[in-house]
Amino acid sequence: MAKMEVKTSLLDNMIGVGDMVLLEPLNEESFIDNLKKRFDHNEIYTYIGSVVISVNPYRSLPIYSPEKVEDYRNRNFYELSPHIFALSDEAYRSLRDQDKDQCILITGESGAGKTEASKLVMSYVAAVCGKGAEVNQVKEQLLQSNPVLEAFGNAKTVRNDNSSRFGKYMDIEFDFKGDPLGGVISNYLLEKSRVVKQPRGERNFHIFYQLLSGASEDLLQKLKLERDFSRYNYLSLDSAKVNGVDDAANFRTVRNAMQIVGFMDHEAQSVLEVIAAVLKLGNIEFKPESRVNGLDESKIKDKNELKEICELTGIDQSVLERAFSFRTVEAKQEKVSTTLNVAQAYYARDALAKNLYSRLFSWLVNRINESIKAQTKVRKKVMGVLDIYGFEIFENADNSFEQFIINYCNEKLQQIFIELTLKEEQEEYIREDIEWTHIDYFNNAVICDLIENNTNGILAMLDEECLRPGTVTDETFLEKLNQVCATHQHFESRMSKCSRFLNDTSLPHSCFRIQHYAGKVMYQVEGFVDKNNDLLYRDLSQAMWKASHSLIKALFPEGNPAKINLKRPPTAGSQFKASVATLMKNLQTKNPNYIRCIKPNDKKAAHIFNDALVCHQIRYLGLLENVRVRRAGYAFRQAYEPCLERYKMLCKQTWPHWKGPARAGVEVLFNELEFPVEEYSFGRSKIFIRNPRTLFKLEDLRKRRLEDLATLIQKIFRGWKCRTHFLLMKKSQIVIAAWSRRYAQQKKYQQIKSSTIVIQSFIRGWKARKILRELKHEKRCQEAVTTIAAFWHGTQVRREYRKFFRANAGKKIYEFTLQRIVQKYFLEMKNKMPSLSPIDKNWPARPYLFLDSTHKELKRIFHLWRCKKYRDQFTDQRKLIYEEKLEASELFKDKKALYPSSVGQPFQGAYLEISKDPKYKKLKDAIEEKIIIAEVVNKINRANGKCASRIFLLTNNNLLLADQKSGNIKSEVPLGDVTKVSMSSQNDGFFAVHLKEGSGAASKGDFLFSSDHLIEMATKLYRTTLSQTKQKLNIEISDEFLVQFRQDKVCVKFIQGNQKNGSVPTCKRKNNRLLEVAVP
Ligand SMILES: Nc1ncnc2c1ncn2[C@@H]1O[C@H](COP(=O)(O)OP(=O)(O)O)[C@@H](O)[C@H]1O
Ligand SMILES: [Mg+2]
Repeated sequence: MAKMEVKTSLLDNMIGVGDMVLLEPLNEESFIDNLKKRFDHNEIYTYIGSVVISVNPYRSLPIYSPEKVEDYRNRNFYELSPHIFALSDEAYRSLRDQDKDQCILITGESGAGKTEASKLVMSYVAAVCGKGAEVNQVKEQLLQSNPVLEAFGNAKTVRNDNSSRFGKYMDIEFDFKGDPLGGVISNYLLEKSRVVKQPRGERNFHIFYQLLSGASEDLLQKLKLERDFSRYNYLSLDSAKVNGVDDAANFRTVRNAMQIVGFMDHEAQSVLEVIAAVLKLGNIEFKPESRVNGLDESKIKDKNELKEICELTGIDQSVLERAFSFRTVEAKQEKVSTTLNVAQAYYARDALAKNLYSRLFSWLVNRINESIKAQTKVRKKVMGVLDIYGFEIFENADNSFEQFIINYCNEKLQQIFIELTLKEEQEEYIREDIEWTHIDYFNNAVICDLIENNTNGILAMLDEECLRPGTVTDETFLEKLNQVCATHQHFESRMSKCSRFLNDTSLPHSCFRIQHYAGKVMYQVEGFVDKNNDLLYRDLSQAMWKASHSLIKALFPEGNPAKINLKRPPTAGSQFKASVATLMKNLQTKNPNYIRCIKPNDKKAAHIFNDALVCHQIRYLGLLENVRVRRAGYAFRQAYEPCLERYKMLCKQTWPHWKGPARAGVEVLFNELEFPVEEYSFGRSKIFIRNPRTLFKLEDLRKRRLEDLATLIQKIFRGWKCRTHFLLMKKSQIVIAAWSRRYAQQKKYQQIKSSTIVIQSFIRGWKARKILRELKHEKRCQEAVTTIAAFWHGTQVRREYRKFFRANAGKKIYEFTLQRIVQKYFLEMKNKMPSLSPIDKNWPARPYLFLDSTHKELKRIFHLWRCKKYRDQFTDQRKLIYEEKLEASELFKDKKALYPSSVGQPFQGAYLEISKDPKYKKLKDAIEEKIIIAEVVNKINRANGKCASRIFLLTNNNLLLADQKSGNIKSEVPLGDVTKVSMSSQNDGFFAVHLKEGSGAASKGDFLFSSDHLIEMATKLYRTTLSQTKQKLNIEISDEFLVQFRQDKVCVKFIQGNQKNGSVPTCKRKNNRLLEVAVP
């Protein structure tokens, strides 16, 4: 698909009409209404053809952003809504691409936005033209020349806080690529009277206030100034401060701008010195002094100020003082000196101040030009920007020489406008091959002639008056005017003899009136001569020239006596006329672009649109005249392509595509629409439409057709959308229905299936139960049959055999059989009896189960009987021995490993027969009691564990130890003192006898012995102690026990020893806490 090209047009979304040429009906009222309507919608720009009308919004609008610059860049003039950027772009592109020098003429009354407009144009051009370090420097210098000129040339007025008090024309020069190279500035007619006097509510030029507010103390001292405004006569006090303006900050801006533009430090300093001198001049005052010859003379009141001025400027004080008191007139070879009276002295002073300032201003412009002038000699393209006051018409008769000059300038500009517009129009017609028809419009050449004609023009006559010898006054000048111009159509005066205005009381006698193209203006003739003369006494210019201050000297070249020129300098009027003539010549070579600025109200306020005020401006700007000239031939023209593109939908053949040349398409289109043929013409590349009505009809048709087309597109789109939606819904519906049906069927099937299963199971169950019932019934029947049969058989058998059975025969047989079995059992047992030994374990087997308990009882009884028999054979002595053995068994069985070996040994007690051995006679005698044990044992030495043999004796009451050889008793322990016997659990004969603590025998501690008959001895000791003391002797069996040796408790520990010592345990005293017994 081809890319859609969006073509916009000025005609789109228009508020009112964007181009006044299209206004229908065209009159003042509709013109103002249209402006107002657009102004209310923030559309401050409106076109008259290619002229831009700008209504000052008095507030910042968001329409100058970089994005806007981009919007308007490289777009056709009529493509977007009216804007100053569109005009700037058109001018710049025409300059760059078609090599046409441009001028941008900005007019309008004070405060209408001319200066702002010129800055907008410059900033737009700066934004779109080339980039690069060098180019940027040029741009910067061009832009920064503005603040400098504004500081010196602008002032606060009642109409505008930043009113330009000079006309400015600036040529910006470009190279062939469209990059800026430099510029030239021309200034026109600085309002220098402001230096010495300002109307109420207005200020002097900004620079004075900026200097006093912004200069450092140091600088002020150097310039011999004081910060206080009230110190200076030239600074009116009632509006020294302007709201929202920071003079001090602006001073810094200006100094900075001067630096950028290229002012050297000493130059800037000189400029400020001149400003200081001007300020101080205002403070010089004069007093009258009469001289003897009766002539009035003046004298300076306070010479201090004069002295300071002279110091500042390097002028000899006496020279300057003289210049303020005398006037020298040189005629031919004569020199006549006259004194000045007070009024003349003041006049001279003010004239000097004005001249000083205005010449300084011109010098500044030249100096800036020097800086910004293009450096190269290549051919340049030029864009001129003219910011000059528009018509000035004050109420009553306040219009003076300045207004006259300004209005003259505007007449000339209108002249150029007419000339160039018509020329352009004519050229276009020729180019487009359209027949030229006469255009009816007002040509103001006749008014220009009234003013500038060299023989009888007003300016020429003014000059004549000024040069005429004799008394010359403003009145004589007016008289002359009345004579010469009386018959001129545009001149009105009451003085002329045959005046048509003799009875016109609105015209005072001291005034004359000119019918400018923009309206009638009444001029007060007072001051014309003086202002035209612009007199500065020669003495003063000579005094200035003598200054050592180089800048001041340069400002007054005519003061040089060497170049003395007796001819009068050119008058202000003729100077202006000459400069206007050059300007016009300059402008005529260029392609003009117009910006007409309009002030919507007098209050500098936003949103207020004062119809009367605007009407007034429209009149003197001649805007209606503009429209008429513009519309004289064809009101509207447009190239064929965009025209066809815009209106092709109005005809079947051209819609939607026209194949063929655009012109043919437009022809077909216009034929189809049946417009009257005189309403349009076909040019080479453009269609020309005579009447705006036709265009609006076209627009109307287009709008209606667009609506139809939009409806059509909407209709088709809606149909398509609905159909697509419908189809989609249909498709979805089928899918949903299928799924839903499937689901329903599935559910139904599941239900049927489960019900079937339930029914099936019920039926099967029922059937099964039925069969089961039948089977059960059958089985019961069978059982019943069997039972019945059994009973029946029983009954039958019993009935049959009853006669063979007695009632208790069974019981008897049973008892008899039992008796016989028991009998047999006992008889058999008699023969099977085992031996009488109590340890015989044999016993015959049991013959019948039911005799089990009897059989066991029988065995027990037999055993008891057998034991009784055995016991009955024992003697008392033997009984004792067994008692002892039993005791030993109780004490040691399963406790001491030595025990089993002792079971077979008979307990003999007295192994040593003391009574029979004569060796022991003494011993025998010492013991009276019965000896229970007498045996040799090994006593273990408590200190070293060595063995020594001792005779161990146990009697009923005592335990005795005696020497084996001698039989001497070594120790005797009453049994009551023996507390415990300790031994190991092992197979050894080692034992300890513990004694009661504190007993007599215990002084040496417990005894340690080793004996082969340990079990016997321990048993006997136990039994004897028990029988004697009725106390059970404690026998400890442990492999580790404590014994008391004297004071020490010693641990006796049994360890596994080696076999080499035989079965005798060996003792070893390890330390005073441990005695080790090695057991084999
Ligand atoms: N396009 C604009 N947008 C916003 N304010 C404007 C515009 N043009 C002018 N002004 C306001 O109007 C004041 C006067 O404009 P200026 O250009 O100095 O008038 P002129 O040069 O015609 O005497 C400016 O200081 C500014 O406040
Ligand atoms: Mg201005």
